[in-house]
Amino acid sequence: MVRHKHSKQWLRDHADDEFVRRARQEGYRSRAAYKLREIDERHRVLRRDMIVVDLGASPGGWSQYARQKVGAGGRVVAQDILPMEPLPGVDFLLGDIRDPAVLDLLITSLSGASADLVISDMSPNISGDRVSDQARAGQLGELAVEVAATVLAPGGQLLLKVFQGEGTGELRRQMARRFDKLVTCKPRASRTKSREIYVFAKGFQAN
Ligand SMILES: C[S@@+](CC[C@H](N)C(=O)[O-])C[C@H]1O[C@@H](n2cnc3c(N)ncnc32)[C@H](O)[C@@H]1O
Repeated sequence: MVRHKHSKQWLRDHADDEFVRRARQEGYRSRAAYKLREIDERHRVLRRDMIVVDLGASPGGWSQYARQKVGAGGRVVAQDILPMEPLPGVDFLLGDIRDPAVLDLLITSLSGASADLVISDMSPNISGDRVSDQARAGQLGELAVEVAATVLAPGGQLLLKVFQGEGTGELRRQMARRFDKLVTCKPRASRTKSREIYVFAKGFQAN
């Protein structure tokens, strides 16, 4: 989870990275777009006309990809604690997902509709203290599951970034209680040394 963004090694790795180069060439705001793309190509996450909620969306790579896939009949509502440069066809909500008022705003921005898919790539600010970083990552994961349970239509889907470590088992159990099927993914664009994985949960049970 820890990325020493200021170290020379990190900067060198970043400049040499295949997905950083591709993102620049193909106009994506982040290399993260390729994680979603690979998971989507393998598991058919996104379809035309879907209503998608993107949690922790900034700078916007996932939102860009989702926007392309859902087409003009779909919607993407993006949310982040940090600002995001506007993206055509994406509604953006600035706020901390830990604040209950932000969930209310999200519900309002869906204008009475339910979402078909929640995608969450949220990561906390990294302090370097492994135990507290893992706890904060776990809290964001649990909140994403709660948001999904509030906004998803029956049968809806959740794609969640999970940092493997303390609490991962419980988070998976929480997801398993609410969804029919969980699939674990480690896309190529996710760095091998990173503890992040993605859990794709299908078949939301709305009760
Ligand atoms: C890895 S980045 C997301 C990258 C994004 N998926 C993309 O493709 O560009 C993780 C994001 O989670 C956001 N985040 C962290 N804590 C948050 C919180 N409490 N509420 C909302 N967003 C949060 C961060 O601000 C950051 O933008």
